[in-house]
Amino acid sequence: MAAAPERPSGPAGSRVVVGVSGSIAAYKAPFIIRLLREAGHEVKVVATQAALRFIGAPALAAVSGRPISTGVFDDPAAVEHVAVAEWAELVLIAPASADLLARLRAGRADDLLTATVLATRAPVLLAPAMHTQMWLNPATRDNVAVLRSRGLSIIDPEAGRLTGADSGVGRLPEPERIVERALALLAPAGADSAAAPPRQALRGRHLVISAGGTREPIDPVRFLGNRSSGRQGCALAAAAAGLGARVTLVQAHVDQSLLDALPAGVEILAVSTAVEMEAAVRRASGRADAVIMAAAVADYRPAHVAGAKIKKPARAQADPGAVGGPAPAPIELVENPDILAGLVARPPRAGQLLMGFAAETGDDQGGVLDHGAAKARRKGADLLAVNAVGEHLGFGDVPNSVIVLDRHGQEVARAQGSKEQVAHALIGLLAQRLDAAGGPGPRPLAGKGPAPEG
Ligand code: PMT
Repeated sequence: MAAAPERPSGPAGSRVVVGVSGSIAAYKAPFIIRLLREAGHEVKVVATQAALRFIGAPALAAVSGRPISTGVFDDPAAVEHVAVAEWAELVLIAPASADLLARLRAGRADDLLTATVLATRAPVLLAPAMHTQMWLNPATRDNVAVLRSRGLSIIDPEAGRLTGADSGVGRLPEPERIVERALALLAPAGADSAAAPPRQALRGRHLVISAGGTREPIDPVRFLGNRSSGRQGCALAAAAAGLGARVTLVQAHVDQSLLDALPAGVEILAVSTAVEMEAAVRRASGRADAVIMAAAVADYRPAHVAGAKIKKPARAQADPGAVGGPAPAPIELVENPDILAGLVARPPRAGQLLMGFAAETGDDQGGVLDHGAAKARRKGADLLAVNAVGEHLGFGDVPNSVIVLDRHGQEVARAQGSKEQVAHALIGLLAQRLDAAGGPGPRPLAGKGPAPEG
């Protein structure tokens, strides 16, 4: 269940360049600019010539409170592309047309907007909008993948009614969603622990991240599974890659569309069961600086996997209408390996930073945090992000809210918002920890405790 868009907030007083390119969705740019200004940010609009065929310069100037800029030769003495690029703490381009994506990918600097993106050191967020076929065209897919691999953030367009009579993917997301994502790049929303990390804070680091839910087969048709979509794990992978890390994602049953949206450099290993995930995580993390277990791993699996589909008992088949027929044979379960606890007890590399997640529900024994703190102490990982889960909570395309605990169950940080925002906050925290522990190579982490009980 998607949450109703809230008025985005973020650290006030930042300088945001809003780029507008040639798409009918340019009419939404003033709403985006107004939201940014209402949140206390300064806005400078840079529009392409094509954008100004869809929306008037006076409207953009009025709503941003400044004159807008378009060409590199408008005011040559001011060397505007450098001045604007240095002024920006964030560059947000909404809408980003197919043509603009192609020019950015090529590294063109033939107008003020492309030149600004080339020259800036600020984070860049692109919000593409175009017709479905243009978005799905291999040329655009390739441009998007390359731009992501270079560390630019891209918010996927939404499905819905397009300009003409047809519908499909390509609509610019609502201004609130775009501004929420943009502000998350300025500083991780909800993170108590301070400022956004530098853009390449994880360069030279290798992170292994698990995502999705394992499936434990009962027979060739059925399995024991869970409701994890893999969104949180994929968001972590994208955030880490965005900070320059080499990322290996070990994924179980994550939807292909989420995997397709990952930055191009992310290595993806597909597994199905907990036992397969354990082997893949161990293999991948031999030289990793950090391992994050965001996957929902089944604690138990059927002791025996039937070779053929399990049939109803013969008497029930003979009389399908009968109620209260013979009970099916119970499924005997055996315990799966605890991958995270195993990494703590036998680290593949000394000094590796280990972060787990705890999917918790409250019950009559205690609240989410009580159970989370007990799990943090039991598992012994350096960090454990505790999130509440339920039918409409935690799993899937919903916001998340985590409390990060250390191995003693003590609170270290909090993060909340979209899964991307939570991912940025957690990866920022992890980058700080890795930085404090020292440069690339095996690093002892201060206060590493004894192996957990199990
Ligand atoms: O995938 P999404 O739909 O985006 O949802 C995200 C999420 C809710 C799945 C995610 O945020 C989350 O909480 N993931 C961990 C789910 C889980 O298995 O929690 P747990 O409390 O059962 O396990 C605690 C930790 O031990 C986890 O890091 C888990 O990966 C790990 N574990 C668990 C069992 C097991 N046999 N081996 C493990 O390594």
